Amino acid sequence: MGMPSHQDPGLLVDGVARFVPPGVDHATLPRSFALLEPLPARGPVPESWALFPRFQSTSDAFVASFPIDSDASLYGTGEVAGPLLRNGFVTEVWAKQPFRVEADGTAVPNYDERSKSLYQAHPWVLAVRGNGSAFGVLADTTYRLEIDLRDGIRLSCVEPFPVIVIEGVSPQEVVQRLATLTGLMQMPPRWALGYQQCRFSYYPNARVRELAKEFRTRAIPCDVIWIDIHYMDEYKVFTFDPERFPDPKGINDHLHALGFKSVWILDPAVKAESGYAVYDEGVAEGHFLCDAEGHEHHECTWTGDAAFPDYTRPETRAWWTRLTMEFLDNGMDGVWVDLNEPSPILPLGAELPEDLRHRGGDGIAAGTHAQYHNVYGMLMAKATDDAMRESRPKRRPFVLSRSSYLGGQRYAATWTGDNVSSWQHLRWSVPMVLNLGLSGQPFCGPDIGGFAGTPSPELFAHWIGLGAFLPFCRTHNALEGDQEPWSFGAATEKLARSALTRRYRLLPYLYTAFYEAATTGLPIARPLFFADPADLALRDEDHAFLLGSDLLVQPRLLEDGGRDFPMPNGQWRSFTLGDEDPAAEAAHPVLRLREGAIVPVGAGGQTTEEAFEGPLTLLVSLDTRGRASGRLYEDAGDGFGYLDGDYLLTTYEAVSKGDVVEVRIAREEGRRPRSVRALHVEFLTGQGAVHAQGTDGQPVTLRRR
Ligand code: GLC
Repeated sequence: MGMPSHQDPGLLVDGVARFVPPGVDHATLPRSFALLEPLPARGPVPESWALFPRFQSTSDAFVASFPIDSDASLYGTGEVAGPLLRNGFVTEVWAKQPFRVEADGTAVPNYDERSKSLYQAHPWVLAVRGNGSAFGVLADTTYRLEIDLRDGIRLSCVEPFPVIVIEGVSPQEVVQRLATLTGLMQMPPRWALGYQQCRFSYYPNARVRELAKEFRTRAIPCDVIWIDIHYMDEYKVFTFDPERFPDPKGINDHLHALGFKSVWILDPAVKAESGYAVYDEGVAEGHFLCDAEGHEHHECTWTGDAAFPDYTRPETRAWWTRLTMEFLDNGMDGVWVDLNEPSPILPLGAELPEDLRHRGGDGIAAGTHAQYHNVYGMLMAKATDDAMRESRPKRRPFVLSRSSYLGGQRYAATWTGDNVSSWQHLRWSVPMVLNLGLSGQPFCGPDIGGFAGTPSPELFAHWIGLGAFLPFCRTHNALEGDQEPWSFGAATEKLARSALTRRYRLLPYLYTAFYEAATTGLPIARPLFFADPADLALRDEDHAFLLGSDLLVQPRLLEDGGRDFPMPNGQWRSFTLGDEDPAAEAAHPVLRLREGAIVPVGAGGQTTEEAFEGPLTLLVSLDTRGRASGRLYEDAGDGFGYLDGDYLLTTYEAVSKGDVVEVRIAREEGRRPRSVRALHVEFLTGQGAVHAQGTDGQPVTLRRR
């Protein structure tokens, strides 16, 4: 985990400064978990520095505050429900499984805009000033922190904490600087961009086979099938139910043969049952959390009475890594780590006591659960990611984690937890993904269709239509009704197919956006105001969003009817992906291309593998000077060859001379050979498209109408 970072105040790198409360000896502050590596101060904060925290301490809290101008817009704070714009909200940075109690007393997983804490912990605020310049504030603590955005920015915590301030000419620059400090998402395997089908749970294994067959028979694009907790023997982690899943390797082989990948769930809690090898080993080797008296602590989870691994210990992480590697020998392609806030199941809302002892080691000091609660999920994700890397050194890991902390994108993708089948939760899918992206986590998405409850056919069709344009695209639901693309009748099935066909056609562009996120830290799904940070009219738009820098997605939710979206400057020409169908048009988002952009799209397919074969299409929208450009990133789709140059990054450009437009390659990077493929060019003119054919690698010319 690296050496402890001394939180010395001063300028860390250009545009980034750390401040420590007066009277606090910075050498006594705990190490940072957000930072990728310790960052010693390079020198004092320059006098020209614009933004200083105002530190105060009261009898029960250390406070850092920043006044803001009335036209400043606040974002970030990680995983939060409700609007994108966070001015006026209070967030408690404390990883938590949210619940709501219904009128009849039953408890359901749920959250809404009043939920102060969700599953993840991001002590981070992004502020965009009236003029479009921006700054970010990182409270570098793992303790429970309150972020109060009702009157400026006010951060408070029972423990003293350093504050890192990032300045930037734009929100993009601040977000990229955040990634320099806290790390980048790893480039995922390409299949992880495909559509994924999950349920709590598909079992027994015959049901999984049927599901896989159904996708292929119905020709609905799908790459991944997920296996939730019912595969385990009495929900004991690292076991398989002898009747439901007697042959996990066999089922994985079967899925692979049909072109699917599989992701299987692991929960952190270990059933406290002597005779169960994982538990016995954990006890013998001291892996479980204990109270101050040294007694092993138990909570009630799916599996009943259970103990919790202490992932702050390097030995415990290594143990978890080893167990996960043995698990992976059965051929799983990815691992889903869940309930790692960590959350007991009963009684409702239970949490681990804050005075449990973590023993740490290797640069992590021993401390209480109050100190390490917020990083529990991230440390579990790290140990799981290590297992994937060690067991398949030639493959890219894929881990999905429900809980995380600022910087957790280094180890895992995430989703927005147990949402509900409602129009409101469908709407929140967008701002939740956007604020996670502005908090350093680009790879996320909602449970399409909603986890709790069953969507109406209309709601499902709209949700999959929108979810097809979010980075992580997985349908998941709880124990209630079926939620497969065909569960809602033929008309909805057709809409679901067309939604996913659009995604699979767009994969070359989407993969390029993933590459950009993995190399620069820019989000994949971006708020509309990224198109013009100084345009105040775009600041609270959290319905329409940008995918990468060139594509505008305008969802069509029933409630909005004919809503007019605010538009950034310039022409944003609408286009279709060969999917003109009036029903789909009513349910699926409108797509628009930025003027001056070229977007690469493929021919689609049933799997991501297929979607990268075959002809390439360039969608071109010329600017007022008759020019356009855009990039396409390609590599092997898995493995690490791309780090040694086995990739091809092509910049295409369109230039006009009079009526004639030439589309050609402006730049190439990487040493991967170009595929031999047809090139189709489609010019968006505003009054329909003009088409031209050629061969990729050769210029294509055509006459503008
Ligand atoms: C939690 C997860 C959910 C999963 C369930 C059973 O509620 O958030 O996605 O299906 O546990 O494992």
